Amino acid sequence: MPEPFYITTPIYYVNDVPHIGHAYTTIAADVLARWHRLRGEEVFFLTGLDEHGQKVQQAAAKTGISPQEHCDRLTPQFQTLWQKLDVSNDGFIRTTDARHQAVVQRFLQDLHDKQLIYRAEYTGWYCTFDERFWTEKDVDDGRCPDCQRPVEQLSESNYFFRMSQFQQRLLDHLDANPAFIRPESRRNEVLGFLQKPLEDLSISRPKARLSWGIELPFDADYVTYVWFDALVNYVSALEYLPPQPSVDRLWPATVHLVGKDILTTHAVYWSTMLMALEIPLPRTIFAHGWWTVDGEKMSKSRGNVVDPYAVVDQFGADAFRYFLLREIPFGQDGDFSHESFIGRINADLANGLGNLLSRTVTLIQRCCQGMVPAPAPSAVTELDTDLQTAAEALIQTTLPQHLQRMEFNRTLEAMWGLVQLGNQYIDKTAPWVLAKDPAEAPRLQTVLFHAAETLRFLCLAAYPFMPQTAEEMARQLGLGLDFSQAPLKSPIVWGGGGPGATVVKGKALFPRVEAVATPSPAKPQPEAAAAPTKDEDSRIGIQDFQKVELKVAKILTAERVPKSNKLLKLQVDLGSEQRQIVAGIGKKYGPEDVVGKTIVVVANLKPAKLMGVESQGMVLAAGDAEVQGLVTFEDQELQPGTKVK
Ligand code: MSP
Repeated sequence: MPEPFYITTPIYYVNDVPHIGHAYTTIAADVLARWHRLRGEEVFFLTGLDEHGQKVQQAAAKTGISPQEHCDRLTPQFQTLWQKLDVSNDGFIRTTDARHQAVVQRFLQDLHDKQLIYRAEYTGWYCTFDERFWTEKDVDDGRCPDCQRPVEQLSESNYFFRMSQFQQRLLDHLDANPAFIRPESRRNEVLGFLQKPLEDLSISRPKARLSWGIELPFDADYVTYVWFDALVNYVSALEYLPPQPSVDRLWPATVHLVGKDILTTHAVYWSTMLMALEIPLPRTIFAHGWWTVDGEKMSKSRGNVVDPYAVVDQFGADAFRYFLLREIPFGQDGDFSHESFIGRINADLANGLGNLLSRTVTLIQRCCQGMVPAPAPSAVTELDTDLQTAAEALIQTTLPQHLQRMEFNRTLEAMWGLVQLGNQYIDKTAPWVLAKDPAEAPRLQTVLFHAAETLRFLCLAAYPFMPQTAEEMARQLGLGLDFSQAPLKSPIVWGGGGPGATVVKGKALFPRVEAVATPSPAKPQPEAAAAPTKDEDSRIGIQDFQKVELKVAKILTAERVPKSNKLLKLQVDLGSEQRQIVAGIGKKYGPEDVVGKTIVVVANLKPAKLMGVESQGMVLAAGDAEVQGLVTFEDQELQPGTKVK
């Protein structure tokens, strides 16, 4: 039996509403949880809320309500966001739950009984924000080395956990388990931290100073330090949240995902607490980087906090999930900007994956009565086997390897390599041309079969990252896939999707997003009276008009001209020939909107180059500076090449 996959996120402080940082870790954990479930593994995915401590007490005081009421009010903000983001957590823990509190008290009593907790007088520099003491040498210029806020000298009697006793054991553990702290740079940070003598950890706060916490079982004048309380959640949850108590089955956790700022509390406090409690250590603690927004640190005072609710409402959960994991390597810092987000939606999602699905489904509908055809072995070429090999390698090797190392961005890069290959495959094999020649039927069927199979592989690979998209792809491809039935439990084989599936044309997976243009200052308008009257001499005679050769054409393929948001490169069927036309319609239409349309082109225009791409004609469209609509026909069956008069 493989070990179950137990993954956790930090439990978030309920001092404020959730932001992009919270969403980031939770989405990453969700991707891994879904991936392991797809493979039929037992998964437990835990997230939740850290409800005690000074920050929560202060936030409640500001609103004038009790801390418990404050927590109860804010909890749905997190739970609803996780639903909106399709987060599939199995457990949701709140540290004010009496069952969690009982476990914390039991652990404290255990350590106290073993004399690993003692009482002592302590004088030091206290940072109210971080709720912790610093020593003289830590404090620089009267400021907290962590948050740079001013510290104050405080003398207090407190309870201490003998953390220092475990320093060597922790170093040995790090040495024997290279994958314990990841990525490597963070492991080195922890090793650096452990070069200095480890001090004991104050695990209590006098109630006189802070009342909002779990009472110490051996001294009612004190509450537990919020970090001791919070870290215990990873074990306490297993005692009561899963269907049956599961500490034995699920512990040790496979991976704790945390932000880089809370690495020490996890790698050092939590590890030594576990050693003292004689509980095994988690397999891996992975610390990810931080997001800035438009190059700046995110903060309320700057007013640049990214609200995940707003992002999801505007662009959908999947685009957000994709962007967060595609944009930066997990472990490094990254920047969020609307331009880069929209750029990814348009280039990777709309033009890449969306286009591949829509043209494949359209072609199968048009050429094969909507049913995925069977390939003809005699018609298979190297182009097809190359595509098959790439799709198989993605699912069988690339995905498992990258996800095992939590390299989300590289996983997505590899997937989009296949998306690109798929689109190029359709361009090169040109099924619309094959469709014209009955003798090419075996080849046409082979091509469309390969395109559909590639999309089936992509759909499975996409599911952990973009569950709604994968469901929609499966629906349009007629796959009848049930993702909850662990479809990757047994190896997936090329052809297993089977010919015969009925495709269903649906909405575009990702509609293109127009960048929100900032309105330019109004230009002075010519006065009505000064508007030019129709110049008699500018009219043309019928002979002039007849010089223009207008013809019916059908758009076979469309793609964006790189670096242009206006130009689309079209391949059109003109009846007797195929032409390439570059059209300035890209602000109004995406490639997926126009493929298959019957339009009017100026067929006898001299060829010209637009952004370096040759255009052999012009399409007719309505509008002036901005295109408002393509000229099309009600009768879509008109023969390409028909003259328009
Ligand atoms: N309650 C503690 C965790 C206890 S776990 C036993 C806590 N909570 S928090 O709400 O302040 O932060 C939660 C997580 O959000 C941390 O992992 C932190 O790194 C992450 N982030 C906060 N801001 C962030 C960004 N700007 N970018 C990415 N993650 C960020 O700490």
